[in-house]
Amino acid sequence: MSDYIIPHQHPISQADRTLIKQHQPLLIWLTGLSGSGKSTIASALELRLNKEFGVHTYLLDGDNIRTGLNADLGFSDSDREENIRRIGEVTKLMVDAGLIVITAFISPFQCDRDRVRALLPTGQFWEVYVDCPLEICEQRDPKRLYAKARLGQIPEFTGISSPYEAPLSPEMVLTTHTETLESCVNQIIQKLLEEKIISYPQFDQSGD
Ligand code: ADX
Repeated sequence: MSDYIIPHQHPISQADRTLIKQHQPLLIWLTGLSGSGKSTIASALELRLNKEFGVHTYLLDGDNIRTGLNADLGFSDSDREENIRRIGEVTKLMVDAGLIVITAFISPFQCDRDRVRALLPTGQFWEVYVDCPLEICEQRDPKRLYAKARLGQIPEFTGISSPYEAPLSPEMVLTTHTETLESCVNQIIQKLLEEKIISYPQFDQSGD
């Protein structure tokens, strides 16, 4: 970065933006193997937060971001690091804007996830491990990618020819091979309520 960049201090802060919302800002970072259920959980969670709780959400998902912002990146270790670095910076802005952001990226390396955590104010990053054994992900193989990876057609495939580091101390672990989708989403909602990040909407009872 150039020495001649002097960031401006703007008067409106995250706290000001949060005041006009009905919830606290947060980044819910889902990590896990391909096929573990990250996108399915993220999507179902966002639907409930939006419809039931009136939360201003945004969802960023691996395959989608890789068609736009990160279309220039592949799956080498350094490209995955850059993938997560950029997503970290984007999510930092969105959380600063006051949103509850949900992400679904394999994000295989602990140091990359830790770097995102360090970008955010304390407590505003939840690392959620979507835990599912490789054998089950491989049986599910919804995109038929594991089959191709086993045949050597996809190099550096996570779990087969590229590593996945399970989170060391995640805020939550969801075991998708033993629990239903509904139960996984409920657990996140429950924790959001307990920690007062969200609350049940107040209905206008004035009769107007
Ligand atoms: S990450 O490792 O850099 O975090 P990301 O979540 O963005 O990965 O993208 C993962 C998605 O890309 C997978 O769900 C899968 O559909 C697709 N994909 C294509 N090639 C690979 C690969 N070599 N390893 C893992 N996923 C891959």
